Amino acid sequence: MDAKVKSPVRAWDLPTRAFHWMLVTLVTVSWASFQYSQLIGDPRLVIHRRTGYAVLILVVWRLLWGFAGSSTSRFSNFMRGPGAALGYASALARGQPRHYLGHNPLGALMVLALLALVGGQATLGLFTVEHNDLAAGPLYRLVDEETQKLASTWHRRAIYWFLLPAIGLHIAANIFYWLVKKEPLIPAMVTGRKPAAHYEDEAEAKIVERPLLRAVVCLVLAAAFVLGGILLLGGRIS
Ligand code: HEM
Ligand code: HEM
Repeated sequence: MDAKVKSPVRAWDLPTRAFHWMLVTLVTVSWASFQYSQLIGDPRLVIHRRTGYAVLILVVWRLLWGFAGSSTSRFSNFMRGPGAALGYASALARGQPRHYLGHNPLGALMVLALLALVGGQATLGLFTVEHNDLAAGPLYRLVDEETQKLASTWHRRAIYWFLLPAIGLHIAANIFYWLVKKEPLIPAMVTGRKPAAHYEDEAEAKIVERPLLRAVVCLVLAAAFVLGGILLLGGRIS
């Protein structure tokens, strides 16, 4: 296989790529807007909460897109279970990597873990309250004091104990594939294209019809679910 001489094929639709880089931006801004809240004059964490809601909406959007999106974004096409992940990992360790156009079976587990960790972090934020009550998530009054403390403690810990290590591993793995295995996964997440090659899953992604319209409908549904859900539960979005 000489990928370089063949013209590239479609691997990711535009909504999936936009989702990814918006998620990266919003998770980074969520972290920074807490870390520098005094410096930016936002002690009530208004920016932090808003980017947190946006993260939640994006995660729900991605769950919908896993059913409504193009072939490589569909869960049914890339969720192959732990057995397939082990098989893929052992082939990789033996120096006989299998090539996938979409997520490989091991990468698919990482994708699920990242979505769960990011979604979990933001959900905990809804119930988090700062000790002096200056800043609080919109749903903290729904739970007793014990649960508020638990949510706040884990909102504080989970990012450093689980989310940041998982993101570090994710970035390291993508750089490894690019520089060592010579598979340009990172450019593909930007351009949506990969070199033509013999891929195990499919030769080229099947892009759904009117991807942008579909993506906007999913976004409206995701926003209605998150924001409507908070309001229905009696929370105030501020
Ligand atoms: C992925 C999204 C989020 C990330 C990465 C994130 C991250 C963080 C971090 C790192 C802290 C500081 C913890 C510390 O060191 O004391 C924090 C605090 C806080 N977050 Fe979030 N957060 C997210 C989403 C949310 C959401 C959706 C809400 C509520 C709407 C929220 C509400 C709060 C509040 C009220 C605090 C102050 C807690 C305290 O200082 O005790 N966060 N968040
Ligand atoms: C906050 C940090 C990040 C988070 C939460 C995150 C999360 C994710 C998620 C959820 C996916 C699955 C995409 C989908 O199917 O919708 C993904 C894929 C991907 N991410 Fe990230 N990401 C982060 C940072 C980065 C960075 C900095 C890079 C580049 C250096 C990167 C490169 C990639 C690539 C190349 C893929 C596709 C992997 C494949 O081909 O299987 N990510 N990421």
